[in-house]
Amino acid sequence: MATQTARIVENGPVSGDSIDRLITTYGGRAPRYTSYPTALQFTPDVAAAQYGAWLKGLKRESGPVSAYLHIPFCERMCWYCGCNTAVVNRRGPIADYVGRLLGEIDLVAGALGERLEIGNIHFGGGTPNMLAPDEIGLILARLAERFDIAPGAEIAAEIDPCTLTEEWVKAAARGGMNRASLGVQDFDPDVQKAINRIQPYETTARAVELLRAAGAQSLNMDLIYGLPRQTLAGLEKNIDMALALGPDRLSLFGYAHVPWMKAHQKLIREDELPAARLRHAMQRRAADLLEATVCAMPCSAAPPIFWRSAAGAALASTISPVPTTALRPQRSRAGCAAISRAIRPTPPPCSSASAPPPSAGCRRATSRTPPPCRSGAKSWRAANCRWRAAWR
Ligand SMILES: C[S@@+](CC[C@H](N)C(=O)[O-])C[C@H]1O[C@@H](n2cnc3c(N)ncnc32)[C@H](O)[C@@H]1O
Ligand code: SF4
Repeated sequence: MATQTARIVENGPVSGDSIDRLITTYGGRAPRYTSYPTALQFTPDVAAAQYGAWLKGLKRESGPVSAYLHIPFCERMCWYCGCNTAVVNRRGPIADYVGRLLGEIDLVAGALGERLEIGNIHFGGGTPNMLAPDEIGLILARLAERFDIAPGAEIAAEIDPCTLTEEWVKAAARGGMNRASLGVQDFDPDVQKAINRIQPYETTARAVELLRAAGAQSLNMDLIYGLPRQTLAGLEKNIDMALALGPDRLSLFGYAHVPWMKAHQKLIREDELPAARLRHAMQRRAADLLEATVCAMPCSAAPPIFWRSAAGAALASTISPVPTTALRPQRSRAGCAAISRAIRPTPPPCSSASAPPPSAGCRRATSRTPPPCRSGAKSWRAANCRWRAAWR
């Protein structure tokens, strides 16, 4: 499948016939690839002894390592959610989990052959901002105690804007957090109702404001296509609205509908889900829009945009193309860059940093007018909105 899909995609815009053929042939269930090693590779053969040997074998001279810490708690259950999480409304289970996480950091550090440097720490979820401010501070402090944090290390968390507090942001920033990823999914209140995720635009904007004020150097936003009640026009609006908040990166996930694995997804009305053809159109439109936007920007301001040649992935309602946030480097940033290049070759650099032509890397020119920055409401937007500056 991959070869055939790649061949069709590499040959440029995909014809309606080819898409219909791909939908007929491959538009069913397929494995979801979101991490490496994949879950399927964790068999009983990978036991404590094997894991211990791997940890002991890590060498400081090979470069900084990455740490991923999962926080499997949420305040509410979004009906589309495919993450490993549970709703909790008491502090006890979270405090208990934090105690075990601190113990795990000690165990891992103790099993290493030598003290290692960490270049990348990622808190995923679930919702890491379900931790109390002092809990996130404790975990970051314990990591700094047991490892050397590399200069310029990336320290990030996935964040639910609806439950983000200023105290949490300040505690995380004090502990060295410098990046964040905000869950958005869709700004349309009607779609939000259909997925049980009510999140007013102002809530997302406020989260951005809090994080920027605390010095966040990089902000990602997650959007999803393929959700109930979504339309092509709505997707365009979502991208415009997200860009107006000045993110450094956008992740666009294809909705993975797996109600046989995630029972709460049965609450999603399947007759409201976009069909495979529309899913594909959404994915193409988003790719074109983002590519054209980035091509029109000065090289120095253009954020990295990664996406897979997701024609095949967009077809099957159960597959989600791997989003940027899933490209977690296993060892180093260099590895991450290599992955992204493999997914999409870097377009040729623009010839000028000040007045960029739509570069040769831009497959399609656009006549779309960029969205206005929603200036006026919040002062940081005007100052920070690199997208707006690029469009002038
Ligand atoms: C851990 S959550 C993000 C942080 C936070 N819990 C929130 O929702 O705002 C990770 C991201 O996975 C994506 N996601 C969750 N379930 C998905 C699904 N079934 N299909 C595709 N993407 C999904 C969403 O974009 C979500 O923002
Ligand atoms: S999308 Fe985020 S907030 Fe919603 S249930 Fe999943 S992990 Fe929790």
